Amino acid sequence: MKDAYGRTINYLRLSITDLCNLRCQYCMPIEGIQKIAHEDILTLEELDEIVYAFAKLGITKVRITGGEPLARKGIVTLIEKIKRHQGIKDLALTTNGILLDTMAQTLKDAGLNRVNISLDSLDDKKYTMMTRGGKLKDVLKGIEKARKVGLTPIKLNVVLIGGFNDNEVERFVRLTQEEAIDVRFIELMPIGEVAKWSKHHFLSNEYILKVVPELVKSNALEENSPALYYQLPGAKGRVGLISPISCKFCGTCNRVRLTSEGKLKHCLHSNEEFDLKAALREERSLTDFIQYAMLHKPFEHLIEEGSLTERNMIQVGG
Ligand code: 5AD
Ligand code: SF4
Repeated sequence: MKDAYGRTINYLRLSITDLCNLRCQYCMPIEGIQKIAHEDILTLEELDEIVYAFAKLGITKVRITGGEPLARKGIVTLIEKIKRHQGIKDLALTTNGILLDTMAQTLKDAGLNRVNISLDSLDDKKYTMMTRGGKLKDVLKGIEKARKVGLTPIKLNVVLIGGFNDNEVERFVRLTQEEAIDVRFIELMPIGEVAKWSKHHFLSNEYILKVVPELVKSNALEENSPALYYQLPGAKGRVGLISPISCKFCGTCNRVRLTSEGKLKHCLHSNEEFDLKAALREERSLTDFIQYAMLHKPFEHLIEEGSLTERNMIQVGG
């Protein structure tokens, strides 16, 4: 499937819940967010039908997101269903890792290929503070289990936050020395709650290269990945820099997003949404609807110009 600019769209990010077992400060306001009514959330059957339509249009990669996708009942069944669609070659999931210790094996058996795990601090206290209550040791156990059952390659997502984890960069980078793990630093984006944050929290990813000058560019190319990869000499894993602010990657964008209430978003930062759930419940053609929406995918985000989504991150899934 192509968009109006000739970009091939082959990647669907599927948010299956707006609930989470953590409350990260940059992801949701302290008072929480208004819960979506149960009947407005796509059912497992509807999610499956939607993925089928996308698969027919040439989507080959699906990533399940949230909120926290492992907090949704039926996730294992959903993975089994999605895996049955021919064409879906890569099925991944982004999680905070808290429930992975107990669920990794079942997820692997259901057909999940791999996981990205969000982890912004290696310090117990700071982790609990940023996640408003999470326990670092649960995530570490989760990472270990994911590795053991083969939900690999494992990628750690670290949102770089000035005044919070900028002093942990080296420690995160060193994790890649002995372990075949990718640590990816993501520039903090001014979405939802974060739009109100003070400037000093926003750092450019160039900071990573300044702190760890031994990092050299890795030649392993990952098609359409928003990350630029680097490596420590002789390291088993890699360090990825995802720089949506300082270095836009919109030109090679291959993705589209679906919120848990069935709104198709063709850009994370745009407020334009297409009501796929309505099309589905009114029994209109999903493939026609999706193709129409793709023709309206914008060429690039306009964050610098002040165009921002009104949603909190927890409602979009990153
Ligand atoms: N800026 C950058 N990354 C964010 N994430 C959540 N909110 C933001 C933000 N404002 C990250 C999460 C997760 C991924 C899906 O997006 O930490 O790893
Ligand atoms: Fe939950 Fe992830 Fe948001 Fe943290 S960033 S509150 S783990 S959805």
